[in-house]
Amino acid sequence: MLIIPSCMTSAYQSTGLIGSHHSQSASLPVWRRGTYKNNHSDETLETALSNQMGGFLYRTSVFDKDELNTITSELSACAKRLVPETASSIAHHRMGTALPKTSPTVQILRDGSLSRLVKRVVGRDYKLCEELPIEVRTYEKVGASMAWHVDDVLYDSPQVEVIWTLENTSNCRTMWKQDGNVRAVETDPNAVVLLRAGGPLHCVTSLKWGRRVILKCAYASKEATFSKGLHTNQFDLQLPKKKRRRKR
Ligand SMILES: [Fe+2]
Repeated sequence: MLIIPSCMTSAYQSTGLIGSHHSQSASLPVWRRGTYKNNHSDETLETALSNQMGGFLYRTSVFDKDELNTITSELSACAKRLVPETASSIAHHRMGTALPKTSPTVQILRDGSLSRLVKRVVGRDYKLCEELPIEVRTYEKVGASMAWHVDDVLYDSPQVEVIWTLENTSNCRTMWKQDGNVRAVETDPNAVVLLRAGGPLHCVTSLKWGRRVILKCAYASKEATFSKGLHTNQFDLQLPKKKRRRKR
């Protein structure tokens, strides 16, 4: 069982960021689905990614209705293309696929609401990482999870990793460590997690029920240089297994 100091629990409660305790781990602080108040100013967000939240930022209501309709319809059509993720030391039992660069969803990631949020929070010169695949990842097999890890730094100014949730009816929790304490959130549909590569230790707990569908991508400064050879596409079955490596 994970315990946090009572003063921290009080801080979460006072800002409305903590919901009722989960029956299986009564003392674990969790932002339950639908309980997070999206009331941070952009000034707060500016500092949140670097320090206040241990390099981990959670924001709800990311895309507008039109963007959401486009993404939902494209990702629903992707269901037939999902393949099991290749062997990985940290991810288990996930399915997924990469979106083509011409995809309407990728276009929205380039210049839509999420891109504008990243520019406000991280820096105006940040853009979608075209060198990395834009992936749909699904957690629906029992045991689907991601072990504790730190995301690989793939750019010489570390990229910001993005996990946006399309659907979540699962028990999965995204957890991260901040100042020696464990935090957790059950990600809402249309909510995003931003975290700096090389930054906070994080994981996704094992699925027991339901389904969780996310989009994974990254943004980096226009000035940043991509480190070739460190990243491979985990859903590309053509790649030799021994070259595969993934901590994102
Ligand atoms: Fe990660």
